[in-house]
Amino acid sequence: MDWQQRPRCDEVPAWAALQSHFAQHFSGDAAFDLRRAFAEDAQRCERFSLEAAGLLADLSKNLIDPAAQALLTRLAHECGIEAQRDAMLAGARINRSEGRAVTHTQWRLPAPHADMAATRADMLAFAESVRADGAITDVVNIGVGGSDLGPRLVVQALRASGQASGPRLHFVANMDGHELAELLPRLTPGGTLFLLASKTFGTAETMQNAASARAWFTAQGGTDVARHFVALSANASAAAAFGAGRCFGFDDGVGGRFSLWSPIGLSIAIAAGTPAFQALLAGAHAMDRHFAEAPLPRSLPVQLALLDLWYRNFHGFSSRCVAPYHHGLRRLPAYLQQLEMESNGKRVDTQGRALRFHSAGTTWGEVGSNSQHAFFQKLHQGTQPVPVEFVLARTAAHALPGHQRKLLAHALSQARALMLGQQGDAPERDFPGNRPSTVLLLPDLSPRSLGTLLALYEHRSFVLGALWGVNPFDQWGVELGKRHAGELERCLLGEGELSELDASTRALVERLRAAGATG
Ligand code: F6P
Repeated sequence: MDWQQRPRCDEVPAWAALQSHFAQHFSGDAAFDLRRAFAEDAQRCERFSLEAAGLLADLSKNLIDPAAQALLTRLAHECGIEAQRDAMLAGARINRSEGRAVTHTQWRLPAPHADMAATRADMLAFAESVRADGAITDVVNIGVGGSDLGPRLVVQALRASGQASGPRLHFVANMDGHELAELLPRLTPGGTLFLLASKTFGTAETMQNAASARAWFTAQGGTDVARHFVALSANASAAAAFGAGRCFGFDDGVGGRFSLWSPIGLSIAIAAGTPAFQALLAGAHAMDRHFAEAPLPRSLPVQLALLDLWYRNFHGFSSRCVAPYHHGLRRLPAYLQQLEMESNGKRVDTQGRALRFHSAGTTWGEVGSNSQHAFFQKLHQGTQPVPVEFVLARTAAHALPGHQRKLLAHALSQARALMLGQQGDAPERDFPGNRPSTVLLLPDLSPRSLGTLLALYEHRSFVLGALWGVNPFDQWGVELGKRHAGELERCLLGEGELSELDASTRALVERLRAAGATG
């Protein structure tokens, strides 16, 4: 099937077949029950477990039966997922609303295109020189969205796994100056390297933080802005105009939320070194190979995306909870929020037609076991089931006895309790059970495993967007608010026309101006 002719999920025969299968087996009195499903099928765990590139996924505690799984796989095939996957991996211009190819997987090829290979070599040589340069004690990555979330997550994860050994790494993203203001007093101009991470080199937050950092640098007596400010950007001329001494460039086919493999990941290479960065790429590439080669029933990204679609469009679940049981993955929910909701939070398909079904639900979560003491009450006894994704690493990098065993026991016990439930001696002690969860098990939180995990999530989002017929690679929905912000900043400065504002915004602007909060 030609990837450009592909039908949307609700237009293929398997969609109607899934509707009737759901009505017959998943609603009303005959509703599917996980406990019964396990009792009736001794092979259920094996049947619904998949392994890919060293990562194990146990999907067996989900509200799905073999017939639904087969129909969903048929749906993916009828939607031309193989052709769309191949087009994406081959660098076709599948991001049509922006007229771009999608190239992030090329940045993790063992032998990429000559330009990419040269940039990667330059960037890694630079990272090693910073690591070796005893004078640089602190590196500050200034970026937001994909120019922050991916690198920040990976650096935190590698630090928690004992893999980070370079200078101190800091991340500044927010327009709120408190973030930068809190950090600056801990830095010295001569000992600090600022990485200006912005694909466009025009994002308001990053430009404001970069300008403030440069002003601080010179005010503190710093000399040689060009040496201490380096850009990671597809916009080399804007970076040069700012005064950055070097710019590690990349092509516009690298979407922000898919960019940590490109020079946007320089902070990772500085924190953990060349072998770790290469292992991260190798892990992601291993998942790319799995995605390219595994048949749809064995393809982990495809089966996870199909489960997402099954829950969103048939069960009607409006959110998914991600609970990583590893301190190093504490920012995984935030990273996934951008990846999944910026990619697939869309209301029209690639042909501009309104969707007749819901697209991305809400991705949310928090690191375990902390999350057990926050919102797991709702997961166990709230009125609506929320599918939970437990992300576990088999081994820990620390040597503290007892912790890892207890941590894993807590995670598994939550998944088991959600499924089994319990009849209590009072209504408030009843646990309904039959609540779905998935376990993703990594061997460890090494750079390679992390690369595999993040590439899995990228492909899952791509597949889900492709099934829904939306473009997972654009994000027009962020533009309108940016435009209003410019107008409102002028109003707060007293330069804009207040009478053009709606009554509510005008009243708030007047109140803020009266309070003198507009400096
Ligand atoms: O505003 C959304 C967004 O465009 C994201 O898609 C992107 O990751 C982020 O802003 C940062 O963009 P840039 O890297 O161009 O500064």
